[in-house]
Amino acid sequence: MDTFEAILNRRSIRKYTEEKIPQEKIEQILKAAMYAPSAMNYQPWHFIVIDKREAIDQIFKINSHAEMVKEAALAIIICGDSKLEMNKDYLVQDCSAATQNALLAIHALGLGGVWVSSYPNMETIEGLRKYYEIPENIIPVSIISLGYPAEKVAAEDRFNKSRIHNNKW
Ligand SMILES: Cc1cc2nc3c(=O)[nH]c(=O)nc-3n(C[C@H](O)[C@H](O)[C@H](O)COP(=O)(O)O)c2cc1C
Repeated sequence: MDTFEAILNRRSIRKYTEEKIPQEKIEQILKAAMYAPSAMNYQPWHFIVIDKREAIDQIFKINSHAEMVKEAALAIIICGDSKLEMNKDYLVQDCSAATQNALLAIHALGLGGVWVSSYPNMETIEGLRKYYEIPENIIPVSIISLGYPAEKVAAEDRFNKSRIHNNKW
């Protein structure tokens, strides 16, 4: 898929079929995530890939904004390792770049996904740490819920010239 096609037509998908996602596609998504830019090129991310029903559903029990996971074939928790990147602001930005790369790859592969928040909600972070046995130095920054799409969401025109400032504000 063309890069602009992927960027301009990606939308959050929150309804999915029951079809399982092949391992090869999961690896393509994680590869795309790992090709994201990161401060000093530290690549401080880890990915928890969750495909067991009970473990996916647990995300909704931890974060009430994540009801869509109940239908999802897969969930990925994007985590930042604070031993690899000690600056938390960079860590979060790096993991966010990885999350967006993954979402674009998901769309390009004909799948659908949505970014579910974790950081900076401490209740969600602690809930995820406890259930998925995530060590203290690891921050679960974001979650992606994904599957084969069971809904179509139309692209929006978001181009806004009033947000562009030339040379000075
Ligand atoms: C940091 C962040 C946190 C988000 N958290 C949630 C969430 O918890 N639940 C949810 O349904 N969508 C969540 N979203 C998705 C946004 O609602 C969605 O991206 C936005 O409405 C724009 O729609 P689009 O993704 O279709 O372009 C989140 C997005 C971002 C970037």
